Amino acid sequence: MGLRGVPLQLVLLQILLRTAAAATIPLAKPGCEDRCGGVEIPYPFGTTTGCFLNDDFLITCNNSFNPPQPFLRKSKIPVTNITIDGRLHVMSTAGRDCYEGGKRVSVSRTRQFSLSDFSISNTENKFTVIGCDSYAYIRGYLGNQTYRTGCMSLCENIDYVQNGTCAGIGCCQVDIPKGLKRITFTPYSQSNHTNVSDFNPCTFAFIVEQSQFSFSSNYLLNISEKFPAVIDWTISGNGSCENASRTAPLSYACKENSECYDPDEGDSGYRCRCKTGYEGNPYLSNGCQDIDECNDSSLHNCEHICDNQEGSYTCQCRKGYHGDGRKDGDGCIPNQFSVVKVTLGVGISIVILLVSSSWLYLVLKKRRLIKLKEKFFQQNGGFLLQQQLSKRSGSSDATKIFTAEELKKATNNYADARIIGRGGYGTVYKGFLADNGPIAIKKSKIVDQSQIEQFVNEGGLFEILESDTVNDEDKDQLKEVAEVAKMCLRVRGEERPTMREVAMALDGLKVMPKHAWDNAELISEETKYLLCDTPDVNKYGDGSTSTATAGYDSIRDQIVAAAFDNGR
Ligand SMILES: *[C@@H]1O[C@H](CO)[C@@H](O)[C@H](O)[C@H]1NC(C)=O
Ligand SMILES: *[C@@H]1O[C@H](CO)[C@@H](O)[C@H](O)[C@H]1NC(C)=O
Ligand SMILES: *[C@@H]1O[C@H](CO)[C@@H](O)[C@H](O)[C@H]1NC(C)=O
Ligand SMILES: *[C@@H]1O[C@H](CO)[C@@H](O)[C@H](O)[C@H]1NC(C)=O
Ligand SMILES: *[C@@H]1O[C@H](CO)[C@@H](O)[C@H](O)[C@H]1NC(C)=O
Ligand SMILES: *[C@@H]1O[C@H](CO)[C@@H](O)[C@H](O)[C@H]1NC(C)=O
Ligand SMILES: *[C@@H]1O[C@H](CO)[C@@H](O)[C@H](O)[C@H]1NC(C)=O
Ligand SMILES: *[C@@H]1O[C@H](CO)[C@@H](O)[C@H](O)[C@H]1NC(C)=O
Ligand SMILES: *[C@@H]1O[C@H](CO)[C@@H](O)[C@H](O)[C@H]1NC(C)=O
Ligand SMILES: *[C@@H]1O[C@H](CO)[C@@H](O)[C@H](O)[C@H]1NC(C)=O
Repeated sequence: MGLRGVPLQLVLLQILLRTAAAATIPLAKPGCEDRCGGVEIPYPFGTTTGCFLNDDFLITCNNSFNPPQPFLRKSKIPVTNITIDGRLHVMSTAGRDCYEGGKRVSVSRTRQFSLSDFSISNTENKFTVIGCDSYAYIRGYLGNQTYRTGCMSLCENIDYVQNGTCAGIGCCQVDIPKGLKRITFTPYSQSNHTNVSDFNPCTFAFIVEQSQFSFSSNYLLNISEKFPAVIDWTISGNGSCENASRTAPLSYACKENSECYDPDEGDSGYRCRCKTGYEGNPYLSNGCQDIDECNDSSLHNCEHICDNQEGSYTCQCRKGYHGDGRKDGDGCIPNQFSVVKVTLGVGISIVILLVSSSWLYLVLKKRRLIKLKEKFFQQNGGFLLQQQLSKRSGSSDATKIFTAEELKKATNNYADARIIGRGGYGTVYKGFLADNGPIAIKKSKIVDQSQIEQFVNEGGLFEILESDTVNDEDKDQLKEVAEVAKMCLRVRGEERPTMREVAMALDGLKVMPKHAWDNAELISEETKYLLCDTPDVNKYGDGSTSTATAGYDSIRDQIVAAAFDNGR
């Protein structure tokens, strides 16, 4: 009971493994066993009728072994592995020729390696002979020509035997020609092992996969029964790829998404393989399945996004990037567009910031200007003038308010030619209005609180005088007289001039007519010094600079000339 339970469990395990394998990539035809023991059986090989391509590909699965063991066709050659790329791993039985006391013991020395149309791999295998009184032949067919080769190993004692080498001392090897078929080999003894029987009673001959074999001196005594060997398999019988696809398209073994290739020269038949980007069994219908390269980072070289396609894949870049997206190509480069966008955005923001800040600055400046204008208006006696003007409203002819522009036009932009006199506090220009006649315009140089009244009153002075009395030439003289008179009328005694000062001032005026009248400037200068010894003028030096900056000259002009924008 207990012994029967173990194989049942194993069978169940095998079924589970089989379904798992079938779920991924199909190996065998539908409904066919794809496994025998631990060995996968891919189509064109198969274990039962209808599951293999032809009799060459029959695998006999002997279930009396535990685990079940596969054999090539109906032979006793065990199969250990079958690969879809055309390799069949088998175990080859060694031939032995043994002696005891100079007499042969074993009888059946010759081994047959019946591979049908398959050939032994000439690259993977070597024919090997072990012994110190030994030689062996290997025979086969190349086409329908027989072929025979072999090697000899003779040694008198074990002293010269070396591990790892098969150079003729205890062991010799020979290459197998390509495409050798129907192989047989037989070991021989030179002299019945008479003088070497104590350390080497037998001669052994076998085919072995070179990579799996390393000679040891122990092999001279006895060796294992079987050695691994590699067989090349092809679809043979209908020639190469071209012939097969042309002459026998129905039996052509290469299915969808696969391609045919001819094996190395000397091998007959053809093989199939899946196209690049596919994996699976090329001999099965729809056996080649698309590889999802994107699921495995080692299979693709995309930098950002991997897009799996039928038989291939494409690389893509994330939004805002361009390029082929391949690590071995251009990769993914940030879009110039977005860079430009960012730079443009920053640039526009800076421009907007500059514009808005300068606009704000201008607005503040203008507001300050208005305030300053109001201040200057007040400082220059604007309110006083307004008051006086409002008192005399009705007689609009008496006083007219001009704008700065009107005055500028009338004086031809304060041209030097229009100057008719210079006083301590300003310059007098002769101007012509478009509709009215000529006028005199006084432009102040500085803003002096004490002069506001003068300016304002000046207007009144010329107004009250007879019009023929006032002419351009003696206007200044009249003004000076008026000034002296005004000073004398000051409320506070200490502000009023002394009699001596008045006398000197008037004396100065008396001198004036002696001068040439055309030299108005000189007179003006003289009277200035005679009458107005004002500390303010000295304080400001040449009198052209003032507390107000040059930028506000126009405002001063406007107010001093008793001219206001009508709206303000
Ligand atoms: C399975 O192997 C056993 C023992 O080697 C043998 O007797 C038997 O005939 C084999 N069965 C088949 C079907 O080859
Ligand atoms: C068969 O060969 C393939 C490829 O060489 C290998 O991956 C696999 O492990 C082998 N299977 C056995 C049972 O040796
Ligand atoms: C095979 O051998 C026969 C004679 O035994 C010969 O007539 C024939 O041409 C040979 N075929 C090839 C392919 O060498
Ligand atoms: C080897 O043994 C065979 C018989 O087994 C015998 O006929 C032959 O003469 C022997 N050769 C030598 C050299 O002993
Ligand atoms: C075996 O050894 C003996 C003695 O050394 C020698 O005479 C004889 O020739 C040898 N036999 C062979 C077959 O070499
Ligand atoms: C060869 O290797 C085996 C172990 O693998 C060892 O027992 C033997 O002594 C070695 N022979 C020589 C000649 O080194
Ligand atoms: C040599 O090895 C084989 C298989 O490994 C075995 O059957 C045989 O009995 C062995 N012979 C000796 C003399 O040990
Ligand atoms: C091509 O195929 C035909 C039909 O199977 C066969 O007779 C012929 O020998 C093949 N030709 C070659 C060059 O293999
Ligand atoms: C060769 O082609 C014939 C038909 O032309 C076909 O019956 C046969 O199975 C083919 N042989 C192989 C090994 O594909
Ligand atoms: C991706 O690979 C993992 C293992 O690497 C596997 O489990 C999964 O099923 C695969 N997905 C696809 C869609 O192939």
